[in-house]
Amino acid sequence: EKGVYAHYMLKEINEQPAVVRRILTNYYDTETSRIPKSLISAIQQSDRIYILAAGTSMHAGLIGKNLFEKITNIPTEVHIASEFAYQRPLLSKSPFFILVSQSGETADLRACLVELKTSNYQILTITNVPSSTLAREATFALEIHAGPEIAVASTKAYIAQIAILALLANSITESSIDMKKELSIVANAIENFLANESILTHVRNKLTKPNCFYIGRGLDYYTGLEASLKLKEISYIQTEGFAAGELKHGTIALIEEGTPVIALISDPKINHNTRSNLNEVSARGANTLHIVTSNCEEPEDEIILDTVHPLLTPMIMVVPTQLISYYAALERSHDIDKPRNLAKSVTVE
Ligand code: M6R
Repeated sequence: EKGVYAHYMLKEINEQPAVVRRILTNYYDTETSRIPKSLISAIQQSDRIYILAAGTSMHAGLIGKNLFEKITNIPTEVHIASEFAYQRPLLSKSPFFILVSQSGETADLRACLVELKTSNYQILTITNVPSSTLAREATFALEIHAGPEIAVASTKAYIAQIAILALLANSITESSIDMKKELSIVANAIENFLANESILTHVRNKLTKPNCFYIGRGLDYYTGLEASLKLKEISYIQTEGFAAGELKHGTIALIEEGTPVIALISDPKINHNTRSNLNEVSARGANTLHIVTSNCEEPEDEIILDTVHPLLTPMIMVVPTQLISYYAALERSHDIDKPRNLAKSVTVE
């Protein structure tokens, strides 16, 4: 089933352009999206969206928050499911809940769902498994169409979750964004990068220490959180995803000669701010790697990705970081598809 690939994770990373295109085929009837009208009007009537999820799905939720707030103007919060279930924040008058889960079986989310249903709230679940518990028990369910994800480390499901959140946000208002077109540009950009990538060399040159930092601002900060989870999960390298501007407020003390610092830069407005943080860590001996989109490119950058719609940049920025994790784990001869201490679906709270 892995075909030409040594591991499911590598296969699933390479499937990502096809996954995005499959979503477009499944969700578009020529130019109109197939998101149910009843779901759209339920969200339109809410005054605040709450996205609940765990792990990588929570990181997709962070990108979703930005999409909802920028496109629909509806304030959106993201909560870790295991916290929300027992420490419920003060809710707005008309909340709408979106539970994001690849498996649709995560116990922390089930706990949230049970709680919310007793209060008769409207709930949408976004899962990869239409027959899953979460998909069956919610008011509305959307499928991400990523196909079975076998590797414990989630890759294609993350991309697919963002694509669905983007399509959904874009269906709520009269949006000027042609999301179908923008997502197909993303699919092409991922394909283009995967066809020419040389990540293994960078991993050998840069990831030579037992720790690592990802830094970025805005959406790149969120990508850094996801990148760092993925690197920890399969390479066992202690990694932190950090808001680039916050590093100097304490954590920069950890930077020493050779500490790997991977910078993510995809927003021209804050390009120079992150570069100045890079100068700070370089001056303290950091071994840096720059992952940038072409609209932010400078001569010293190592990994250049195609520029895509600004709200969708995480979908392209994450791909090199997935491969960094994969090759770092490969170099250390770890069980990539089944990392230690982990299960694909976390069914205990
Ligand atoms: O099936 P879910 O999306 O609900 O799973 C949530 C997390 O357990 C999951 O994303 C986990 O963080 C991944 N193994 C990360 O790669």
